[in-house]
Amino acid sequence: MPPKNHSLIEGKHSADASVFNDMKDMSGKPQPEPQSHLRAEAQGFLDSMASDKNAHQALDRVGGMESRLRAISDEIEQSGTYTHTAEELQFGARLAWRNSNRCIGRHLWRSLEVRDLRTLHTEDDATDAITGALKRHLKDAFNGGRIKSIISVFAPRRPGSADAVRIDNHQLTRYAGFRLDDGRVLGDPDSLALTDACLAQGWKPSTQTPFTPLPWQFILEGQRTRIQEVFKEQPDLFQEVHLTHPEMSSFDALNLKWYAVPLLADMAMKIGGIVYPFAPFNGYYMGTEIGARNLADQHRYNVLPSVAKVMGLDDSSNRTLWRDRALVELNRAVLHSFDQAGVTVGDHHALGEQFEAFCKAEERKDRDVKGDWSWLSPPISASQTPQFHREFDNEVVQHTNFFYQHSNPKPTEKSSGCPFHL
Ligand code: ARG
Repeated sequence: MPPKNHSLIEGKHSADASVFNDMKDMSGKPQPEPQSHLRAEAQGFLDSMASDKNAHQALDRVGGMESRLRAISDEIEQSGTYTHTAEELQFGARLAWRNSNRCIGRHLWRSLEVRDLRTLHTEDDATDAITGALKRHLKDAFNGGRIKSIISVFAPRRPGSADAVRIDNHQLTRYAGFRLDDGRVLGDPDSLALTDACLAQGWKPSTQTPFTPLPWQFILEGQRTRIQEVFKEQPDLFQEVHLTHPEMSSFDALNLKWYAVPLLADMAMKIGGIVYPFAPFNGYYMGTEIGARNLADQHRYNVLPSVAKVMGLDDSSNRTLWRDRALVELNRAVLHSFDQAGVTVGDHHALGEQFEAFCKAEERKDRDVKGDWSWLSPPISASQTPQFHREFDNEVVQHTNFFYQHSNPKPTEKSSGCPFHL
């Protein structure tokens, strides 16, 4: 059954991804000492590792739980932090995915390829090295259309230091949003602030279109570097799918497209209490993210009125359900076009069934799947998927997960106490 509290649904309209988590409000509870808190989160993570059928072997290799915990405690005492082994990093990143309450694609968590780039920022030309690694990530993730899930993990946060690497971009591939004189936006309104910032930093896009790729803006040790115009130099890195409709040729005139790889770059990953402020990751798209949100939301591309026009629908009243009919055809176009282009895309029915199978498999292992109902139910035809008819406990596993974080890092910044942010 759907939750009674429908204010939950609002989150879906204000946020824009299917993988995010919220953090439970911990207000009222006295905060433990930072070091003992870190130790407790390390222990929480190691417990998950110890109970995993494969990962426990990695723990055995470093002398078992007790000995690893002792080493971690000593390191925390000396330095205020601790360092993951390569195997902890790999399992931890996968577990952070499995713990993401809002993600419907979690059944794939074990297949995540984890790239250990924790020391890349120490190279002579750090910006070049980082840009190169991210280009490789994008190319390998696209993988000729058979999209592969990858995470690139950069330096962890150190107490008292500015983050070694961060990026201003929400995703590595995304469209700019240009403010027009008449107050309208050309492109993605969600990118307005970043587009303004890039232009202020000296970005000179050769053309301004509804689909102009944004450049990358890194922040190394708190300092913004030069804008990286990766896609101007290598347009083929920005893989896109042009949208056509399986029957309606008039749909082509809308000139719609979307990019192939959703690669989130501004979330923090936490493993056993250690924060990785830059750990860009990708999966593949579920069609509705594009067809029922990015292109359809009234505060995003808002294309339904144009779709209705090419379909010849009567839009004189909401009760003709012209929006609903246009929405279905737009979503058919997204799935059809990705399929034609040979680019992986999930549909909400298949992903819904796969998620249901995942829940059942986890239950058989005595693991309770946490989830955020309002995100796991797709934005169209929700009642036709199993998630809609389930209830989920939305408690967020704190020690290992993905979190929103402040977009403008300052070395001395203190947490605002917002439950959605680290
Ligand atoms: N919803 C976001 C977008 O439309 C992407 C979030 C991640 N999605 C995913 N399938 N891994 O761009």
